[in-house]
Amino acid sequence: MAYLEIQDLKTHFHQRQGSLFNSTVEIIRAVDGVSLQVEKGEILGLVGESGCGKSTLSRTVMQLQPPTAGSIRLDGVELTELPPAEVRRRRLDFQMVFQDPYASLNPRMTVFATLAEAIRQRHPKLTGKPLADRVSELMETVGLAPRFQKKYPHEFSGGQRQRIAIARALAPEPKLIIADEPVSALDVSIQSQILNLLKDLRERFGLTMIFISHDLGVVRYLADRIVVMYRGRIVEEGEAEQVFNHPQDAYTQRLLAAIPGMAEMSH
Ligand SMILES: Nc1ncnc2c1ncn2[C@@H]1O[C@H](COP(=O)(O)OP(=O)(O)OP(=O)(O)O)[C@@H](O)[C@H]1O
Ligand SMILES: [Mg+2]
Repeated sequence: MAYLEIQDLKTHFHQRQGSLFNSTVEIIRAVDGVSLQVEKGEILGLVGESGCGKSTLSRTVMQLQPPTAGSIRLDGVELTELPPAEVRRRRLDFQMVFQDPYASLNPRMTVFATLAEAIRQRHPKLTGKPLADRVSELMETVGLAPRFQKKYPHEFSGGQRQRIAIARALAPEPKLIIADEPVSALDVSIQSQILNLLKDLRERFGLTMIFISHDLGVVRYLADRIVVMYRGRIVEEGEAEQVFNHPQDAYTQRLLAAIPGMAEMSH
């Protein structure tokens, strides 16, 4: 059995349209029958155009959004059947990195405070020097000098802020990291630095990750396997090079044709 097993997952939204007295309910099938597996230590790339359901899928896997139907198993445990208190506890096992690190970091908290809080989610009793050492270690892990730990998010560049967000995601020692468009808001030169950092972290810690992007070129650089999503469903799945070099599905072929500056990303 794979580390993460998703079976026939559906997340539908009901959206009311029209006036108060004359309304219809439209069903939005954001995720509509997705099955996929992620092996331990694997980076799965999830690509597809805006609105195809990538973020909804990740929110559902994170237990932030209840599924309409289907099964999510992590390490053999069925997550959709856990009682709420257990879900809260297990949420530590999943950490996210978002597109906009500035919005996802608390502007009033120093790097130290942000990381210390995240570490203590897993180790509530950790204080003093052991806590400070762990903060420094995390900063070094993501390529930030520990002497910046008293600084606030606005004092960093976009790429550095994303490094802080990655360190915060690593702090509670998660089993799975979902990175939702983590480089989309960054300059191309900074993008590759962050991609290289993620690649490096995977090698050092055997991270298991779902990496989401609308850009197949970016995903190819990092992912072992690629899943292509279109309108809530998976239309293609395979080894990264296979999908990239020999796309079977017409939609994937169109995604590939749309990649700007594809040559820069190839290795
Ligand atoms: N809470 C919600 N209520 C109603 N509809 C929603 C909700 N969240 C998402 N949707 C709809 O579900 C569909 C999938 O949205 P989602 O955000 O998952 O797509 P995405 O692939 O992440 O897009 P993007 O690349 O723009 O981030 C869209 O049609 C969106 O409008
Ligand atoms: Mg999204």
